[in-house]
Amino acid sequence: MNIRAAEVEDLQQVKAIDQLLFEEESYPIFALRQFLDISYGLMKVVEIGREIIAYCIGHYNSEKKEAWFLSLGVLPEYRGRKIGESLTTNLVEEVKAMGATTVNLTVHPENKPGISIYERLGFETQENTENYYLDHSPRLVMVKNLC
Ligand SMILES: CC(C)(COP(=O)(O)OP(=O)(O)OC[C@H]1O[C@@H](n2cnc3c(N)ncnc32)[C@H](O)[C@@H]1OP(=O)(O)O)[C@@H](O)C(=O)NCCC(=O)NCCS
Repeated sequence: MNIRAAEVEDLQQVKAIDQLLFEEESYPIFALRQFLDISYGLMKVVEIGREIIAYCIGHYNSEKKEAWFLSLGVLPEYRGRKIGESLTTNLVEEVKAMGATTVNLTVHPENKPGISIYERLGFETQENTENYYLDHSPRLVMVKNLC
C-alpha cells in the first residue's frame, strides 16, 4: 500500500470512487480539480499496484493554524484493513508538521466506521448540528487538538 499526494492524472479515478461512495452527493470533477489546486499535497490517494483504491482531501489555513479534512473514501472491497485510519493519520501528521494546532471535520452521526476512526485518533465531537450543509441532514463537527 502506497499513500501519496494526488496528481491531476489521478482525478478521474478519485471521481469514480467518490461517485460510487457518495452518489448524488459526490463532488463534481471540477470541484475535485479545484480542491487539488488548493490542497498543497493534502489530497492523498492510496495505490495498490496501479489502482487507486482510496483517497482523502485536506486543507490547511496557515494564518489560523487550522486544518479541515473534507473527504475520505475507501473502496468497499478494501475496507477493514485500516486504510481509512492510515490515511487520516497521514493527514494529521502532515498538517501537524505544517504547524496546525487544530483539525476539524464533519461526519454523519450514523457513520460508525468513520466515527470509530476519528475517535480512535483523538477527535472529539464539538457540535451536533441538524443542518450543517443546509440540506436538513445532521452532521457532527469533530475536532482534534494538536497542541
Ligand atoms: C469510513 C471508511 C473510510 C473507513 O475505511 P476503512 O479503511 O474500512 O477503515 P478502517 O479499516 O480503518 O476501519 C474503520 C472502521 O470501519 C469499520 N469496518 C471495518 N471493516 C469494515 C468493512 N469490511 N465494511 C464496513 N466497515 C468496516 C469498523 O467499524 C472499523 O472500526 P473498528 O476498527 O473500531 O472496528 C470507509 O468505510 C468508507 O469509505 N466509507 C464511505 C465513505 C465515508 O463514510 N467516508 C467518511 C466520511 S466522514
